[in-house]
Amino acid sequence: MTEKRVSLHGMWSSRLVFILAATGSAVGLGNIWKFPYITGLNGGGAFVLVYLICIAIIGIPIMMAEVLLGRRGRRSPINTMMELAREAGSSPRWSWLGWVGVVAGILIMSYYSVIAGWAVAYVLDAADGAFVGFDGDSAGAHFGAMVSNPGTLAFWHAIFTILTVLVVARGVRSGLEQAVKVLMPALFLLLALLMGYAVNTGYFADGLHFLFDPDFSKLTPEGVLTALGHAFFTLSLGMGAIMVYGSYMPKKTSISKTIFTVAIMDTLVALMAGMVIFPIVFANGLQPASGPGLVFVSLPIAFGEMSGGLLFGTLFFVLVVFAAWTSAISLIEPAVAFLVENRGMRRTTAAVLIGAFCWVLGLVTVMSFSSWSFSFEFAGATKTDGMFDVLDILTSTFMLPLGGMAIAIFAGWIMQRADTVDELGVGEGAGYRVWYTLVRYVSPFAVGILILNSLHLLPT
Ligand code: PFF
Repeated sequence: MTEKRVSLHGMWSSRLVFILAATGSAVGLGNIWKFPYITGLNGGGAFVLVYLICIAIIGIPIMMAEVLLGRRGRRSPINTMMELAREAGSSPRWSWLGWVGVVAGILIMSYYSVIAGWAVAYVLDAADGAFVGFDGDSAGAHFGAMVSNPGTLAFWHAIFTILTVLVVARGVRSGLEQAVKVLMPALFLLLALLMGYAVNTGYFADGLHFLFDPDFSKLTPEGVLTALGHAFFTLSLGMGAIMVYGSYMPKKTSISKTIFTVAIMDTLVALMAGMVIFPIVFANGLQPASGPGLVFVSLPIAFGEMSGGLLFGTLFFVLVVFAAWTSAISLIEPAVAFLVENRGMRRTTAAVLIGAFCWVLGLVTVMSFSSWSFSFEFAGATKTDGMFDVLDILTSTFMLPLGGMAIAIFAGWIMQRADTVDELGVGEGAGYRVWYTLVRYVSPFAVGILILNSLHLLPT
């Protein structure tokens, strides 16, 4: 098939650029901040195993489907879904999938940039030598003092939002390629170096045991759902982010090979972060289940102690900010692409508008870490962390998996089979059939069962 549609927003210049951009979107706070703390909260090994299975049999096939839809539609997710539904002789109401994605992206961005703001603040603290001499208590107190100050959080949240808007306003391609080319290798290198430190704590084996030795008695139904949701979150799936990146992908590029590369890199970064953090946690008597502060409390202890900690600590948090930045860009791109396409807005205006909206919404998260926490029931337990948790559960546990399920149903049941064969470009051999079976039967069914199974966990 020849190139039928062209993207209004330009195209990635090569396969490598797509891989870098998609990896930039996938690797972010989800890998370095969220994966370790939810693993800690859910008891380790068994949770990690479920997460890895979800990546392999649900995440990767749906990621291919999402990129495939994006590349075929070549427009913002809302318009792509409408167009492809029409092409398949189905209802244009499929565009609601794009809408849900836009809303999910905005909701995630609102808290994502608050957490990224913590990392920005920690860059300065690390450079300032604030971590020197930290033990578990002082590192905890330092973190506690930061998050309980709404002014500071709102300020760094604003800085990070502005950084994101700046890139999105120029178009996601410019700058992204160079940044990610240097960044990803640097992040791997630094994580490898920190792993060296973790080995030296004497608790490396404990860390590995916690991460990779499954104890199924610690796995709850809530944990399984969290693992599923995190597979979507970490791969940037189910809300149109990867679809919009797919829409800028050249026709000749192989979807399956590139997606495998991205998913493997993403998983490696998360596992490496876990292997760095848990030995430090155990060596310093910290609680694995201490929640969203885990990384921000454990790593500063290590940086305060190691030689060259000032440099490595600063560099590490700079890289975390960059990783978050390249993800945040893709969180608001679907909304911005829509405003440009459908409202004829200039890119800059659209990016500023969405950025400002996300910043205001983010104040809810800012406040939830200080004065606004309240109690609510989830999964039979009383939680007191507040709105941040509500937003996180709503988006990553429900919106992204449901969005992903709809994408799988569309690719597996609505689209013409011949069109999917044509887009995937691997012929109709065994590889294609495995993928087709997974998106047509396995993924939607698995997500459906898990969600249905957990409806009783919802706050009542
Ligand atoms: N994948 C990103 C991370 O792991 O930090 C977060 C994310 C980006 C989620 C883009 C969803 C998304 F559309």
